[in-house]
Parts: sequence; structure tokens; C-alpha cells
Amino acid sequence: MPKPRVFVTRLILDKGLDKIKSFCEADVWPEEAPPSHDILLERVRGVEGLLCLLTDPVDAAVMEAAGPGLKVISNHAVGVDNVDLAAATARRIPVGNTPGILTDATADMAFALLLSAARRVVEGERFVRLGKWKTWGPSLLMGVELRGATLGVVGFGRIGQAVARRAAGFDMRVLFTEPRPVSPDPDLSATQVDLETLLKESDFVSLHCPLTAETRGLMNAAAFARMKPTAVLVNTSRGPVVDQAALYEALRSGRIFAAALDVTDPEPLPPDSPLLTLDNLIVVPHIASSNRATREKMSLMAAENLIAGLKGKRLPNCANPEVYSNPRINTK
Ligand code: DGY
Repeated sequence: MPKPRVFVTRLILDKGLDKIKSFCEADVWPEEAPPSHDILLERVRGVEGLLCLLTDPVDAAVMEAAGPGLKVISNHAVGVDNVDLAAATARRIPVGNTPGILTDATADMAFALLLSAARRVVEGERFVRLGKWKTWGPSLLMGVELRGATLGVVGFGRIGQAVARRAAGFDMRVLFTEPRPVSPDPDLSATQVDLETLLKESDFVSLHCPLTAETRGLMNAAAFARMKPTAVLVNTSRGPVVDQAALYEALRSGRIFAAALDVTDPEPLPPDSPLLTLDNLIVVPHIASSNRATREKMSLMAAENLIAGLKGKRLPNCANPEVYSNPRINTK
């Protein structure tokens, strides 16, 4: 029996890649930069499986180019906004993702960014390196206190709740918004409010919602206008949830105190982005899930989703489970 042909759009960690190679004939994109859309269209031709990254827009054209034999798309991420889920579902293609395993890594990064912005860690480090440190000063690089402060969590899924858990350790009060029905961990003391109340009352706002038509540009000029001038914004969700021009203006004018981003729009953030001229902005290159243990688990989960789909089995983690529940939709 010939092995199923798959395209893997980047060199993922060996844990997952070895598993894929043992079961499939894998064409693995070897470069650091993602394949262009044209290359993607070319390389998927005739494959049964596609393992893609959040940097690969997998639209209907990609699915068409792969042809009718495409059995599974496995996204090496929990977020699936890069995949046209409706197009996949219409073609009866299950889309895998990697929920759960990157919750703590992402929550750790959200908190690292929150603390760094609150206590001006990056700015302080730059200050020292630039030779500006002359003496201890009573008001030198004053930040914001965490104890007793209010954290507003936008999106109270796994990651949002993990951030709230960390906030409890800092004696913070937690508010959250969540449009979907959730049953928060009963040990968590957190209050559900509407977005307007959250923005008005929070000292820290941390974004943990998926990127959808509803959340695109959620943090716009009107949202910043509602926030406290002492507030800090943290984004580890998706860049387009924040209107970056509005963020620039809010930071430049002192409308809010600071922001810390793991994600931007676009990615990478161009080196001439006006945001990079601001001292009250921290930005890191979409690395919230990047610790070895987590990335190994992601590679493995993505491989398991891919292989399950190739075998015609239900994916262990499927972002469009309606391909299984709708009787009119059958997986191949
Ligand atoms: C995801 O998985 O969606 C993160 O953004 C990257 O790890």
C-alpha cells in the first residue's frame, strides 16, 4: 500500500514530524519563511492531507487545488482563523487544531507581558543599556500596582481562565466577557460583565477571544476611549482584534498607560511601524506558546489529527465537528 501523500508547510518539531513521516509520504517545506500562496497551491496538488501553520491562509482555492482526495487539514495551532472553516466543512474536510496543550504557556506569556508592561521592565532595560541610569530616583520609571487592581479578561475560554487563575495569585479582582455559554472553574472568583463595564473598570485588559467577524477591530478608538488612562492592554489572541492605528493613538496621547502585544497585524510587524517608536509598547513575535514542551505537544497533536483524518477516523481535536454531526455531511 502506498503511503498517503501530505504537505507539511514547515519543519515542525521532530516529535510530530517523525510520526508523520512514519505514516505518510511527506513533502515538508524546508524554509524558515512560509510558502507563498502560489507555492501552497502548487504543493498541495493531489495530497490527501495538509498540515499547515497559522501563517498559511488555507482558503477554498487551496482546497480546490488539492483536489477531491483531500481528507484532512491539520492546523498546528489552536486558532483556526487562517483556515476557511466554512469552505472545509462544505467539502466535508475535517480541520484539526491543538486546544488545551498551549493554555498554560499562553497564559504565562500573557502574564509576563502584563507584568512587564505594568512595571516597565523592557523600558527599564533599554534605559540601562542606553546609559541613561544615573541614580536611584524616587519617581524613576514608576509603574502600576497589581495588588487590588482589576483585570478584565476578554474571552473566558481555557486561556482566559488560566490568566484569571494567575491573577488570583496577585490578589487581583477579575472581570470577564464571554459571548458563548461558559462554566468557569468554580474555584475562580470572576464576574461576568459586558464589554463596556469591563473596559471602564479594568486596570488591565487581556484579550483571549478568537479572531472572528465580531472580534475583528474590537479594540478600536471607541474602546480605548472607555478605558482608564492608567490601564494596560495585553494581547496574546490575534493581532486584528486590535485596531493598531487606534492603539498607536491611544498610547501616544496617553489615553492608556501601556500595551504589550504577542500578536500584531500584520505579522511580522514591519520595522517602520509607528508602534515601534513608542516607549509604552512592548511587542514580542507571536511566541506565547513557544516553550519546548508545548511546541512538542503541538507538533504531536497536529500529527495525530492529520493521521486520524487520513485513516478516515474522527480527529482527536476537530475545529469543525459539524462534519461529523450533520448527517448530510460525511467524511470521506
Ligand atoms: C495558536 O495556537 O493559535 C497560537 O496563536 C500559536 O501557538
